[in-house]
Amino acid sequence: MRGTPIPHAAGFVANDTPQIVTSRFEHDDSFTLERYEATGGYQGLRAALDRAPGEVHGEVRDATVLGRGGAGFPAGIKWGFMPGDVWPKYLVVNGDESEPGTYKDRLLMERDPHQLIEGCLIASYAVGLSQCFLYIRGEMAVAQERVADALNEAYAAGYVGQNILGTDFSVDIVLHWGAGAYVVGEETALIESLEGNRGMPRLKPPYFPAAIGLYGKPTIVNNVETLSNLPWIMNNGAAAYKEIGTETSPGTRMVAVSGHVKRPGVFEIINGTTTFRDLIYGEDYCGGIRDDNDLKAFVPGGGSAPWFLPDQLDLPFEGSQVGPQGSMLGSGAIMVMDSTTDIPKAALSLTRFYAHESCGKCVPCREGGTWLEKILSRVVYGHGSKRDLSLLLEVGQSICPGDFPHAASERLGLEAVPFPYNMTTICFVGPSAFAPVHSALTLFPAEFADRVSDDDPGTGLAGDLPSLSTSVPVELKKVSTGD
Ligand SMILES: Cc1cc2nc3c(=O)[nH]c(=O)nc-3n(C[C@H](O)[C@H](O)[C@H](O)COP(=O)(O)O)c2cc1C
Ligand code: SF4
Repeated sequence: MRGTPIPHAAGFVANDTPQIVTSRFEHDDSFTLERYEATGGYQGLRAALDRAPGEVHGEVRDATVLGRGGAGFPAGIKWGFMPGDVWPKYLVVNGDESEPGTYKDRLLMERDPHQLIEGCLIASYAVGLSQCFLYIRGEMAVAQERVADALNEAYAAGYVGQNILGTDFSVDIVLHWGAGAYVVGEETALIESLEGNRGMPRLKPPYFPAAIGLYGKPTIVNNVETLSNLPWIMNNGAAAYKEIGTETSPGTRMVAVSGHVKRPGVFEIINGTTTFRDLIYGEDYCGGIRDDNDLKAFVPGGGSAPWFLPDQLDLPFEGSQVGPQGSMLGSGAIMVMDSTTDIPKAALSLTRFYAHESCGKCVPCREGGTWLEKILSRVVYGHGSKRDLSLLLEVGQSICPGDFPHAASERLGLEAVPFPYNMTTICFVGPSAFAPVHSALTLFPAEFADRVSDDDPGTGLAGDLPSLSTSVPVELKKVSTGD
């Protein structure tokens, strides 16, 4: 792979939107130190080092850089949770990107690794730490190679290491390759993996990384895109950043669009104001639905997000508007389904992923995810009964008790149930297995009704399910449920 030319980031589509993190993608050699320095690279670090660490932290806090890993928590505020008097403390960069549909961090690491390294240095300086770990997903061979080469260049040029640029600021950056587990993207599982353990999430509380993180020390975990914004902010200031987008969602954000659009790809869009309609139908973006079909549904924020309908097309990329409408922006992955989509099958494909990725630490996810997958398989492949449909919802209730968020539908006369949900699991993988099932069943009930028989084999027994195969119908025993 070494030296493989990738002239332009596969999948990236440039347009007239201000480019904060993708400005170098047009250059064939955007990943080299030479190109980076020739296009303003490491000037943000120099600007930061001319100021006190607290001022740099204040600038990032003022910019309101929302975390781009999924939760959207402002980076500057998160950094403020680190206790000042504990040493050592760490920065961990989350480059484990594996949410279905998401492929923006990979492009940032492949196309502009120095920007990420500079972001790490600025963050380390701002919060006063000297050890950073950069965790890159196992399958991303080109990203690993590019970041490793860039890091060697940065060490050799004096940007990383001891007494950076002649100051008394020193930071080491260690690269770590993952082994390809989705759940390791969850920050505490990633920390476990870095420590050499199986990548299983920790309970929060008490294991909030800012308080008890890597090796039990205060740790910031930030996403690749979050940190890639910092050089621009140091060069241009928080005020300029906030002039783009909205007050609560400033700047730009990268979104990855996949599915049934004419031009899928990664776009840098203006945060807070760009709407899903702009993105899916805009000529500068996806250019409409393939074959000019109708839009059936779309997933607005990665495979874990509850689905949206054409009713929600005019919502902007603004978490405070998307949440009340029943979903989330998550990792910035939009999956588009046109009128030809087999909805139960689409739901199965996502649920199967999350069931497979369960780490097994908590029962509702480990067992529930598998149940969901098996029951849904039975329905999709024509062996399901009506009872299976309610069983799916019952299993979902054991993972997410209470109302589960969903979009409003004019067609069905449904009002939205706002995000988020209750959960009985340690992390979001369990609920993520249920989200597609719930969306599909709630928003497209007819597609399931058409597929199942009227036979009611019973009320379902846990003991029966392990014997189910994905395609063989079985008879469930009738048990008393007390109702
Ligand atoms: C199951 C799961 C998978 C996740 N995967 C990723 C990931 O691949 N990349 C990422 O940055 N954050 C991921 N997150 C979110 C991280 O836990 C964490 O919130 C994020 O890295 C913090 O960075 P940010 O504040 O800059 O967004 C995941 C969370 C969960 C629950
Ligand atoms: S929800 Fe699933 S993936 Fe997350 S800790 Fe529990 S078993 Fe593991």
